[in-house]
Amino acid sequence: MQRAGKSYEDHRAKRFISTNQRGGAKNSNTKKNRIQAKKEGVMREDPIVVFENVSKIYKMGEVSIPALNNVSLKIQNRRFSMVLGPSGSGKTTLLNIIGCLDQPTKGKIEVCGERVAEISDDKISEFRARNIGFIFQNFNLIPVLSAFENVEYPLTLLGMGASERRERGMSMLESVGLSDHARHRPNQLSGGQKQRVAIARALVKGPGLVLADEPTANLDSKTGASIIDLMHKIQEQYGATFVFSTHDPQLISHAQDVFSIRDGELIEHRSEGK
Ligand SMILES: Nc1ncnc2c1ncn2[C@@H]1O[C@H](COP(=O)(O)OP(=O)(O)OP(=O)(O)O)[C@@H](O)[C@H]1O
Ligand SMILES: [Mg+2]
Repeated sequence: MQRAGKSYEDHRAKRFISTNQRGGAKNSNTKKNRIQAKKEGVMREDPIVVFENVSKIYKMGEVSIPALNNVSLKIQNRRFSMVLGPSGSGKTTLLNIIGCLDQPTKGKIEVCGERVAEISDDKISEFRARNIGFIFQNFNLIPVLSAFENVEYPLTLLGMGASERRERGMSMLESVGLSDHARHRPNQLSGGQKQRVAIARALVKGPGLVLADEPTANLDSKTGASIIDLMHKIQEQYGATFVFSTHDPQLISHAQDVFSIRDGELIEHRSEGK
């Protein structure tokens, strides 16, 4: 089980330190060290997502709908990556497959150092709970819970004790500028505030990978830009890998990698190398 630090920052810092120690160690390529590295997770320089010739075909009766066609890509660890494409191009399908919410029809996938097809059905939700945070277009907050309770919920699922949940939940709410709204219910928050709670909820457990499917689609353009700005700052601060989809080419200024898809095909990968 992953050790939980006092706060999200401690937790990420521990991961970062152990990664650097591994990288700097002499004889780091011994079999023992490789096994240890695999146990501890993905190394900094490794890609966190690898797709090899991935296709997804949905079947609706007699009709086959190709949603992804032979997509190969690598998403580098600790980057801010964007999937860009028009409606129906396959963005949600791509993110759902990365997030192990859906399986490809063909091809090989590695997420957080694991060949996810080899993880059994009963272990896959645990794998998701530990490694992946999700941010949705319509926020998906639980309406009867306060902002703080929404944020601490993933920690409850991981079996964390109440005082640590409180500390990490409040520290995360503070990171998104909402510690003074901890007791508000979702219907007492603006759209941008709801999405900030959702960002805090996705990050509170310290996942290596955060997936956001059109996180700004239900926000006005100014609030949308500020949410992207916030996600980028958080990504820089904590070092998680962010992958998000959008229709909006105006949002690409923050992206370090842009994957453009059309009709299920990856037509361009642009790396800004920031
Ligand atoms: N469950 C499903 N069953 C059948 N077809 C599907 C299913 N999900 C998606 N599709 C089809 O797969 C294609 C890609 O859909 P997808 O939702 O990935 O696109 P998208 O880029 O996310 O679009 P949008 O920007 O509108 O959200 C579309 O043609 C869509 O109709
Ligand atoms: Mg979509």
